[in-house]
Amino acid sequence: MTHLKQRWIPSLLILVSALATSAGTVAQQRELRVLSDRTDQGTLRPILDAFEARSGAKVIGVFMDQGLVNRLESRPTEADIVITKDAELLDIAAQRGLLDPIKSAKISASIPPEFMDPAGRFFVDAYRARIIFYSKARVKPGELSTYEDLASPKWKGRICLRSGSHDYNLALFGQFFASFGEAKARQVISGIRDNLARTPKGNDREQARAIFEGKCDVALMNTYYHPLMAENPEQKAWAEAVGVYFPNQATTGTFIMRSAAGLTKATDNRDLATALLEFIASKEGQQLMVDRTKQYSVLRDVSAHPLMVKLGAEQGLVDGRFKIDFVPLDKMAGKREEVIKFVNEIRFDAER
Ligand SMILES: [Fe+2]
Repeated sequence: MTHLKQRWIPSLLILVSALATSAGTVAQQRELRVLSDRTDQGTLRPILDAFEARSGAKVIGVFMDQGLVNRLESRPTEADIVITKDAELLDIAAQRGLLDPIKSAKISASIPPEFMDPAGRFFVDAYRARIIFYSKARVKPGELSTYEDLASPKWKGRICLRSGSHDYNLALFGQFFASFGEAKARQVISGIRDNLARTPKGNDREQARAIFEGKCDVALMNTYYHPLMAENPEQKAWAEAVGVYFPNQATTGTFIMRSAAGLTKATDNRDLATALLEFIASKEGQQLMVDRTKQYSVLRDVSAHPLMVKLGAEQGLVDGRFKIDFVPLDKMAGKREEVIKFVNEIRFDAER
């Protein structure tokens, strides 16, 4: 027992001094404010918690599902950092002069250039693909091929989708415009509308549920919903009823959706804000992001989540790696407005 005691004493001393230090920090604890459109604290919180633990600062979140750019415009210094599910929103915010350049050698060194805003005001912190989820019972993977094919008459009455005006679909359709060209994009989006099985409604997971319930056969959803549904007891059956298919692998590639983080105009906590951004861009932060959100890391040496690695195996993808149709964000500038207009014009969300 004696040797045990001897071992414990130094550890105890370290613990006591650590407590003393943290007590000292509490007295002058700094607060960092984060504005985000992540729907709940769940996905972001572990990263913020880890940062709180290492910095001693308290991170306060302002969470909102929609209207992030407007919020930033009306209260430009409410938060120090803005984190979004949709990098396009930060591109818009940057163009409106609502973001400041991030000055960090660590971030410049770690984030690949294609994921960095050219003016350094934000960076892509992770991405996912928006792909086809299909009924394992009623669709064979061999019947699937491209996004464009979803406009063909063979899918009449068989597609489920959330609102055409939701950010996810705006980001996808915007990439159709940028990659396929305007005429083709209009034709594909109109064709998908013609093939809808029901009025667009619900979130992404609701579309998998509709496939499970036999209401439709295919849907467009983000990759991470498959593992997220699989680990949710109430949604497990939905996940089991659907397969996932990465479209356009033999042609132009699958479209991705980027999430991003940037600096606001608030300057009081600039050092701390930069430190949080550096943490998000670090290997440790990226690992938390991958584990928690099941997105793909922007760092090449952080591999996909084990549950994501399996996706696409039926179509011959190896290690979950897939061909991306990489549309630079600046190519999507202005596309969002064009898509919103078009989606309304063709009454994408009309009752049916
Ligand atoms: Fe989502």
